Amino acid sequence: MIPRETIDEIKNRIDIVDIVGDFVTLKRSGQNYKALSPFTNEKTASFYVVPSKGIFKDFSSGKGGDGITFVMEHEGMSYVETLRYLAKKYGVEIQDENPEFSAPDAQSDRDSLYIVMNFAKGHFKELLFNSDEGRSIGLTYFRERGFNDQTIEKFELGYTTNEWDGLNRKAQAAGYSEDRLEKAGLIIRKDDNRVYDRFRGRVIFPVHNLAGKVIAFGARTLTKAKDQPKYINSPETDIYHKSNVLYGLFQAKNAVRRENFCYLVEGYTDVISMYQADVDNVVASSGTALTEEQIKLVRRFTENVTVLFDGDEAGIKAALRGIDLVLKGGLNVRIVLLPDGEDPDSYSRKHGSSAFKEFLRTHSQDFISFKIDRYSKDSQDPVRKAEAIRDIVTSISLIPDAIKRSVYIQETSQLLKMPETVLFTELNKIVIGDRKKKDQDKVKEEPQIYDAQREDQSLKQHDVNFSEQIQEREAIRLLLNYADSELEVDIDLVSYFISEFEDIQFGNSSYAKIYRDFYNSKYEGTLIDSSHFMSTGNEELKKLVAELTIRKYYVSPLWGNKYNIHINDEKDNLFEHAHQTVLRRKYRYVQRVIEENKEKLKIAEQNNNHDEVDHLIELQVKLKIKDVEIAKELGIVSGKY
Ligand code: UTP
Ligand code: MN
Repeated sequence: MIPRETIDEIKNRIDIVDIVGDFVTLKRSGQNYKALSPFTNEKTASFYVVPSKGIFKDFSSGKGGDGITFVMEHEGMSYVETLRYLAKKYGVEIQDENPEFSAPDAQSDRDSLYIVMNFAKGHFKELLFNSDEGRSIGLTYFRERGFNDQTIEKFELGYTTNEWDGLNRKAQAAGYSEDRLEKAGLIIRKDDNRVYDRFRGRVIFPVHNLAGKVIAFGARTLTKAKDQPKYINSPETDIYHKSNVLYGLFQAKNAVRRENFCYLVEGYTDVISMYQADVDNVVASSGTALTEEQIKLVRRFTENVTVLFDGDEAGIKAALRGIDLVLKGGLNVRIVLLPDGEDPDSYSRKHGSSAFKEFLRTHSQDFISFKIDRYSKDSQDPVRKAEAIRDIVTSISLIPDAIKRSVYIQETSQLLKMPETVLFTELNKIVIGDRKKKDQDKVKEEPQIYDAQREDQSLKQHDVNFSEQIQEREAIRLLLNYADSELEVDIDLVSYFISEFEDIQFGNSSYAKIYRDFYNSKYEGTLIDSSHFMSTGNEELKKLVAELTIRKYYVSPLWGNKYNIHINDEKDNLFEHAHQTVLRRKYRYVQRVIEENKEKLKIAEQNNNHDEVDHLIELQVKLKIKDVEIAKELGIVSGKY
């Protein structure tokens, strides 16, 4: 029997992309992933993974479900076998109801490390509160830093006395082998084979994994001794890979979900001070420079990161590197630069919680204004300005999502008073340059240049009236912005449009071209987005696409100018909006065809072409029925809309 809590813990920790990714090569497609179905022999990818919902859906076999379902289906395992497999994969220990089973040496290697780390944590907590040294030195120190009991308990802070073998003795008496203590990084073996405790005479900050198990410790000295490092951290072990861990994420994850953004700070004390100052959506990349893995970790809970930095030169340098890494990870990034020489900890203690929160609120800026501020001191210098532009556009080029790129280009254009086209050209140079670098060995294809002029000629006969063009434009705008967005679990916007627009042609040749490219790419299984047109279209098409991809953010600014809030109403109502767009377009289309048919009917009657007349009348009746149906759905009684 696997206990209920353990099952919940497993479910909490599983990451559908990660699970499926062990068996299937997934390709990113917007927010989601897709692949060739592992259950059938399909040629075109119709297997989707939707991380935001934790589900997969395979259109070719009809299978779908969560990560557990996937493993059961794919590996033919039972439910319990699957849980054991996932528990192992995510380092969740399955504690059998039988107590003997949790005796120290009876479990797998990794489990045994969790257990000994848990023992050590308990030991350090005990010393903090119940030893003279712990209380007079450790607890006093935490109190001086302003940490209250609730905070100390939340982060499970502790203390280790200044003895060579305090932990080692205690642990061995409780049945833990030296070997295991060593593997957990808790003791160090010297050349002469003697061992001693790694952490001595320090306050202890346990590092938790997402399931709340302790996987490492950071230990800060309280003496001013120069020969002592300020912090001693756990080494890499079987359960601790520091580049994959964010300090405080276990404590912060619900708050991060709730606030839909995450503060990123430097270290243990910054996280805890912010928590103490009533800001609980905060994590630290403690002990390492920020890594890609850490960003992926954040992305499981939010797309928005606000990085806090010390305003000195070193802080700014770290900020610049952090920004690019966060952008590359597909997250939105904002920056708060603290006054020179301050960290979140010192600032919040000096000014208090509410002043600190006010500071965060008023000093958070997006990365473009942050970068512009860096250059604005000598913005009159054209060389510096060119440098600023290149720097900003290079950061923008790292953003995987084309729509976001366009938005930032637009913002940069406004702030720097530079034409968007110049910035787009610069962006395309970088993007294409990067791609070329990647593709160097592959056969290169000439980019397809779209010839609007030529196509316009052939499509003149389809010229349609203005209001129909407006409906077309709206449909194309939605495609460019949300092609891969899910309207329902099963259907993305492209598929929806394809099924609805089956026999409706676009009158405007540019729209027709854009629609056709989306249509083809969907069927080829490599869905394009707006960037496709930015790199292959002519100037006119590029301009059109840029215009249409930027427009939505006029209405709803990209995550908070004033507050750290992500506003995007349109996306929330996407299904309703897409549905209305489809209906309006059909309505316009049907009305036009009815008018055209009337003309044809006249001519057929004049020519006494009875077959044609019969055919047209039949068609006209069908169209009228359709017309009424659509009008009803749109809430129009009759006639003009
Ligand atoms: P600080 O030097 O600010 O540490 O480093 P602190 O404990 O807050 O000390 P004071 O009170 O400001 O002087 C910030 C973070 O960097 C990490 C720790 O996570 C720390 O909280 N750090 C620092 C280390 O991991 N190792 C070190 O040697 C120093
Ligand atoms: Mn500090």
